[in-house]
Amino acid sequence: MKNSSLHDRGVINRYRPYLPVTEETPVVSLNEGSTPLIHSPWLSEIVGRGSEVYIKYEGLNPTGSFKDRGMTVAVSKALERGARFVICASTGNTSAAAAAYAARGGLSCAVLLPHGKIASGKLLQAFLYGAKIISLRGNFDDALNIVRQFSENPDVEIVNSINPFRIEGQKTAAFEVVDVLGNAPSLHLLPVGNAGNITAHWRGYREYHSAGKCDTLPHMIGFQAFGSAPLVLGHIVEEPDTIASAIRIGNPASWKPALTAISESHGLIDTVTDAEIITAQVQLASKEGIFVEPASAASIAGLLKYFCKSPHNRHRSLLVEGARIVCTVTGHGLKDPHTPAAIGMHLIESEATLSSVSNILEMK
Ligand code: F0G
Repeated sequence: MKNSSLHDRGVINRYRPYLPVTEETPVVSLNEGSTPLIHSPWLSEIVGRGSEVYIKYEGLNPTGSFKDRGMTVAVSKALERGARFVICASTGNTSAAAAAYAARGGLSCAVLLPHGKIASGKLLQAFLYGAKIISLRGNFDDALNIVRQFSENPDVEIVNSINPFRIEGQKTAAFEVVDVLGNAPSLHLLPVGNAGNITAHWRGYREYHSAGKCDTLPHMIGFQAFGSAPLVLGHIVEEPDTIASAIRIGNPASWKPALTAISESHGLIDTVTDAEIITAQVQLASKEGIFVEPASAASIAGLLKYFCKSPHNRHRSLLVEGARIVCTVTGHGLKDPHTPAAIGMHLIESEATLSSVSNILEMK
């Protein structure tokens, strides 16, 4: 007998009326979504003004990032129309999600990755899920330009966020926030790379608002890494650079819709430096027990930089008294173990005796 609580998981089954699927769509799912919205006493205190800060921990999706939400829809629709291959350019997480959902759906997968710039965990994921991995002598923007040229091939489905089904799936993160909080937050902060996710969230909030599920809308606040900030600068960055490899993008595909999301929501987009990203990553882990990859920490770095108590904080005027603030952290920390380790890990060696360990701990 079908146990509905077991079978109705995954974002397509949970949000079917809001998604472009029918009864005929074969659902390729790994039970993505339903990620925790974790209250942060540390950040709430730092921001002040009676605000409550929540972390949407997207690293707890099946492949460890928010990409799974869009990939379940994109791969299901690819299978429905009879595609045989999925292909994507990626800074790592899209490739991991594409490879996993393609494996689940019985499709072949090819991923184009900038050579030497992919976090090791993500590379291992794509490999084990069985994708054909092409290590490109170029950056993400070069890879996406090549992938776009497969759009005329009927056997191939491009599963980058230029595929509208990706954005459709990713908007479910906004639905989940409203379902948990009972309304939209006043601010929603996100890291921005190819700019699909901020676009998707705004769509989700607007659709839920139209459906009467929330009676307010958030300001959408994006953060780009300082060396990869085309949306902030207003022009393409030819050689993007940042320690946060996931958002090392100089010409975002969703440039226009992201700017629309920001202007319609009276939000903003600004930069955080690599040093600020790493500090936020380390603090989020040590103060709240939440381990995220560097790119994910951009939302936290932006909150710390621009919204905390300080007379000079230039975006603090957006904070109303008692604001509810959501920061999306997009990917799991274990995907990229080398970047934080590079700042230096302090290990204390000990003889394998109780007295040696007790001495180090200064315990009798
Ligand atoms: N955070 C992480 C961990 C990401 O992997 C990405 C994008 C972003 C943030 C930015 O999201 O592109 O929607 O603005 N990663 C893509 C990839 C580009 O290929 O995995 P965005």
